Amino acid sequence: MTTDLLCSYKGVLYPVTHCSAETFKALESFEAGVMISSLFFKPLVSGTNWIIHILRDLVTTSAKKNEEEMKRTKQDEEIVEYTYLEFGDPGKRVFATHIFPHMLPTSIFKNNVKILMVIRNPKDIAVSYFHFSNSMPSLPSFQTWDEFFNAFLNGKVSWGSYFDHIIEWNKHFDDENIMFITYEELKENPNLGVKKIAEFFGFSVTDEESQAVADRSSFQTMKENSHKTHGAFGNVLFRKGSVSDWKNLFTEAQNQEMDKKFEES
Ligand code: PPS
Repeated sequence: MTTDLLCSYKGVLYPVTHCSAETFKALESFEAGVMISSLFFKPLVSGTNWIIHILRDLVTTSAKKNEEEMKRTKQDEEIVEYTYLEFGDPGKRVFATHIFPHMLPTSIFKNNVKILMVIRNPKDIAVSYFHFSNSMPSLPSFQTWDEFFNAFLNGKVSWGSYFDHIIEWNKHFDDENIMFITYEELKENPNLGVKKIAEFFGFSVTDEESQAVADRSSFQTMKENSHKTHGAFGNVLFRKGSVSDWKNLFTEAQNQEMDKKFEES
């Protein structure tokens, strides 16, 4: 693995492209409204872009019902490295991040910001992250899957150890303001997943509207539009979008090793 592409901040590795003083300073001063977080950034590959698409669509669908709100809805802005949306009342924003809870701006917990946590089978995360790392020039590439597997298991990847993320987020499992949703349940029943997300954030949608949001955020549709939405990055990001792809790369020994590590975490 080439390590000159990584930097360390408070003990966690990040790609150097994300390591500006401005970014880290923003973590302390950012005043948050509504928030979405993914359990793990790339180590995350948990479906962040999928959720962002759903939330963006719910914001627009809801705002369209109210002309005034629509006027106040700004989309596709960037704050430091975070993509966020500002809608409705000033201060209501949606943004995505992959960092540890203890690194989040303190206003998030102080202001009871709503957090949506997306969880995905760590084995699929590892496989997705392996391909992602090897396709992104800004991330270290790995010669072999085995090399990546060991780095992943030991947290020697950008955004830190998946297992440390789980331990930290687990402490928030019963928090009222945090909703946990799995990639797998969203994949199995997208309409129901969209409805749950809408309800949690207080968007009222009809069955037809939630189905339309689910259809517009299907893997196929997002992949087809990815050149427009994500440029060249689209091809890398929308790779397979499936469940249990890990079975194509994991050996039985690796499968058991990860189960053991997960149980110990
Ligand atoms: S990132 O870069 O960490 O923010 O990546 P992230 O968006 O979290 O995760 C990328 C993986 O999510 C899959 N994906 C989807 N799956 C199902 N439906 C939809 N709409 C969708 N959009 C993205 C994407 O294909 C990546 O997973 P893999 O397994 O690599 O295909």
